[in-house]
Amino acid sequence: MSLFERLFRRGPSEFAVQINGGEHTLRASTSESLLQAALKQGLPFPHNCRVGGCGECKCRLVSGQVKELTDKSYLLSAQEIQSNVILACQSQPRSDVVIEVTLQAQGSAHPVVDTRARIVSLQPLTHDIVHLVLQTELAMPHAAGQCAELTVPAQSPHGGERRSYSFASPSTPEGDAQMADFYIRKVPGGAFTEWLFNHAQVGDTLPISGPHGQFTLRPGSQAMVFVAGGSGLAPIKAMLEDALQGTHSARTAWVFFGARTQADLYALPELDTIQRQWAGRIRFVPVLSAEPEDSAWAGLRGLVTEHLGSQLNMPLSDAQAYLCGPPPMVDACVAELTALGMPPASILSDKFLNKADLARAAA
Ligand SMILES: Cc1cc2nc3c(=O)[nH]c(=O)nc-3n(C[C@H](O)[C@H](O)[C@H](O)COP(=O)(O)OP(=O)(O)OC[C@H]3O[C@@H](n4cnc5c(N)ncnc54)[C@H](O)[C@@H]3O)c2cc1C
Ligand code: FES
Repeated sequence: MSLFERLFRRGPSEFAVQINGGEHTLRASTSESLLQAALKQGLPFPHNCRVGGCGECKCRLVSGQVKELTDKSYLLSAQEIQSNVILACQSQPRSDVVIEVTLQAQGSAHPVVDTRARIVSLQPLTHDIVHLVLQTELAMPHAAGQCAELTVPAQSPHGGERRSYSFASPSTPEGDAQMADFYIRKVPGGAFTEWLFNHAQVGDTLPISGPHGQFTLRPGSQAMVFVAGGSGLAPIKAMLEDALQGTHSARTAWVFFGARTQADLYALPELDTIQRQWAGRIRFVPVLSAEPEDSAWAGLRGLVTEHLGSQLNMPLSDAQAYLCGPPPMVDACVAELTALGMPPASILSDKFLNKADLARAAA
């Protein structure tokens, strides 16, 4: 091999990833995370946010080298870092690697599909939330509460940027698994939402991958407390509609919806249908944080967390909670529900983390 070849030879673009002493072996490219590679091959690798914000994809790097895409020190303890714990969603292989992780008991019921989707409809729901409806080339069945990764089309501003968005509707057995819809809030200065709100048009196509995440309804017959903030209503509405298809709607449910003003409440007809079709007891509680004092609003005002205690007039030690929305709202609700007696293990949450949240956490 000439000197030129030796100097400019590109390394392999794929490496072997050995999991739990050879229990599983897979190939991962240098441009994908260990988590992406594992999910693509159907492994039940623990994860949720896939952006380095929740810590659920922690695993131990036994040997080999990875490129870490984000600072993990704000999420992992000094002891974990010392023990070579890494975030699989933020680690790309740079050599063959061996990792240890506790895989989940069952794989996702729905394998990850990489395909393209066409925008069928893009309608405003409020001044800063749109309803995006896509038709995917390949069917993408998913569990209610899961999300998909959407990519800005290559030729557009911010082309190639990928972001997670939660499905706003469940897959139905008889439904069309090629239709997917999302509630997306505009984030000022944000790459994906800048494209979606200012450039995207009906008929455009974009890459989509999914389903991802483990924010899904858990079995049980106990009462359920749902809290949604802003576009966080998407997976909550999907879960409620999914519950109607099975036995979950026999359970008692509380649905808190936090928004700024009446104009920021949306999907009310859908929520009304859910309430009418719910088999058990259900209570819908909208809470407005910035509704003008002199308006005719007769509902609750303030932050959702301020009302959980007074509204949930039942023992919470045996209830489940599903929380979704901006990270500060989710964190505050976890603290409040725990203080009210709900065991932390019964609280599931999905934080809509964005780059600013991650930068703040890492600072
Ligand atoms: C599991 C999951 C599900 C989600 N589901 C939904 C959903 O259903 N609906 C929804 O609306 N959102 C959802 N989100 C949030 C979504 O993925 C995006 O993060 C959000 O839409 C913002 O994307 P963006 O590309 O527009 O903004 P980004 O480009 O990510 O930027 C976000 C903000 O950070 C700033 N910023 C960019 N880079 C930096 C940096 N390096 N340092 C500091 N600040 C920076 C930007 O100026 C902007 O203000 C979800 C997130 C997760 C993790
Ligand atoms: S930190 Fe990796 S999935 Fe959340």
